[in-house]
Amino acid sequence: MGRYRRKPTFHLSFYDLLVYLFFLVIIQFSAADAYDPMDPKGNITVKWDIVEWHDDTYTAEVTIFNFQLYRHVEMPGWRFGWAWKGKEVIWKMWGAEATEQGNCSMFSGGNIPHCCERKPVIIDLLSGTAYKDQYYNCCKGGVLSSITQDPSKFASSFKLVVGNAHITNNALIPPENFTLGVPGYTCGPAYVVPPSRYSDDGGRRWQQALATWSLTCSYSQFMASRSPRCCVSMSSFYNSTIVPCPLCSCSCQGLDSAAKCVKPDQLPTNLQMPNSDGTPNPVVMCTRHMCPIHVHWHVKVSYKKYWRVKVTVTNLNYAKNFSEWNLVVQHPNLQSVEQVFSFNYKPLHQYGSINDSGMFWGIKFYNDMLLHAGKLGNAQTEILLRKDPGIFTFNQGWAFPRRISFNGDDCVMPPPDTYPMLPNGSPTCHLAPHFIYFASCLFFFFFLVL
Ligand SMILES: *[C@@H]1O[C@H](CO)[C@@H](O)[C@H](O)[C@H]1NC(C)=O
Ligand SMILES: *[C@@H]1O[C@H](CO)[C@@H](O)[C@H](O)[C@H]1NC(C)=O
Ligand SMILES: *[C@@H]1O[C@H](CO)[C@@H](O)[C@H](O)[C@H]1NC(C)=O
Ligand SMILES: *[C@@H]1O[C@H](CO)[C@@H](O)[C@H](O)[C@H]1NC(C)=O
Ligand SMILES: *[C@@H]1O[C@H](CO)[C@@H](O)[C@H](O)[C@H]1NC(C)=O
Ligand SMILES: *[C@@H]1O[C@H](CO)[C@@H](O)[C@H](O)[C@H]1NC(C)=O
Repeated sequence: MGRYRRKPTFHLSFYDLLVYLFFLVIIQFSAADAYDPMDPKGNITVKWDIVEWHDDTYTAEVTIFNFQLYRHVEMPGWRFGWAWKGKEVIWKMWGAEATEQGNCSMFSGGNIPHCCERKPVIIDLLSGTAYKDQYYNCCKGGVLSSITQDPSKFASSFKLVVGNAHITNNALIPPENFTLGVPGYTCGPAYVVPPSRYSDDGGRRWQQALATWSLTCSYSQFMASRSPRCCVSMSSFYNSTIVPCPLCSCSCQGLDSAAKCVKPDQLPTNLQMPNSDGTPNPVVMCTRHMCPIHVHWHVKVSYKKYWRVKVTVTNLNYAKNFSEWNLVVQHPNLQSVEQVFSFNYKPLHQYGSINDSGMFWGIKFYNDMLLHAGKLGNAQTEILLRKDPGIFTFNQGWAFPRRISFNGDDCVMPPPDTYPMLPNGSPTCHLAPHFIYFASCLFFFFFLVL
């Protein structure tokens, strides 16, 4: 055993590399899978803490945690639902409400439950709700931030009183068939977990829930949308070729009725409203790639020790503003980010010492809102990166990202063999780290000139 422990660190990082390569391969095949190699543990967890219980009535505090590094729940927010196993009713609720009261006609007199539905659907309250109906973490319209972007807004809570509880062998039985009501998520069953603990008396005493149930919901891009929603184009200062988004990245113009698009001069007056025949209005600008989101990566300048990239995110959807959007980028040089202009940045490291991915998002009140298509529908950043000796190169398209996702959905990249190349036959003289390369460079240079 001791021998293993004394192995040089090289083996550890080699192992890391293997893991990393393995995940790179996984990325290629993970389209139909819920597994996200950039956020392998990411999930939404819902915890039910039973805090009071008398006969067939109990009080539960329910909290929805978004344990995802970069995927958030945006407007119109979560719609958390389940199926009761028995004849349960919800007597009262704080911090959220059931969308339907349902048939409560079996209750008469002054005391009518909040909801008698067999399959209640719960929504968050809006901000500005009366104080008596609020609960902590509530009233954000169902919007949840990711833990990276805003750790103060990644959870939502509500409290409910349940009557006619389903009890078997002296234990409360949780409901089943949970749904989050957000496209792409599937939820598992609730399990009994160790009860939640709350500190009391300034941390000197601990209280705990009578019982705690927990369930997790996970995301699959494939289930959220069959077609991609974002694509990447590239350009550089050293080659005039602009590599566009691949043709039909998200859909093809005129391929089927679902892929209609709008030309800027033919905008319908009200994009949100369906046409008179009930078909939805097309909302995406007509392009060769038909994606609602377009990311452009431009290798802008090379300095002696640094290089600079400009990244532009463009919204081509006329009917959608993205609030608190984010971009996740994978590039080996992200281990040496010197400065990021006009965006927030945080590295994401998932696999030990490998530090090649990071998350970018807008600055509050400046560009955290990506406006709908049009003149203002874009956001830009410039990134200054250090040229790591021995790793950095403009050769072989190294300066371009390996992977980009917008709001957690992978963007379609151009094929690597089309990336802008250094002009033929001119190795990068000023970059060559070794004298011998430099000499051959010079030789080449004279050869070309003569
Ligand atoms: C959900 O995320 C939490 C926090 O990252 C993690 O501890 C837990 O294991 C995850 N659950 C599942 C089922 O992946
Ligand atoms: C939950 O879903 C399963 C499968 O669809 C169904 O058989 C079951 O009756 C549902 N449970 C409740 C309580 O509705
Ligand atoms: C409402 O529930 C009662 C008894 O629970 C039932 O008799 C009645 O038919 C139901 N009404 C409707 C409209 O389903
Ligand atoms: C997007 O935001 C702008 C400015 O706040 C607003 O004028 C516009 O109506 C919004 N568009 C949509 C589709 O919500
Ligand atoms: C990862 O990179 C960031 C900057 O890109 C740097 O601040 C951080 O220290 C690096 N972490 C490790 C473990 O190398
Ligand atoms: C620019 O890059 C393209 C695409 O990789 C390549 O075909 C072309 O030869 C390059 N241009 C020059 C001047 O080398």
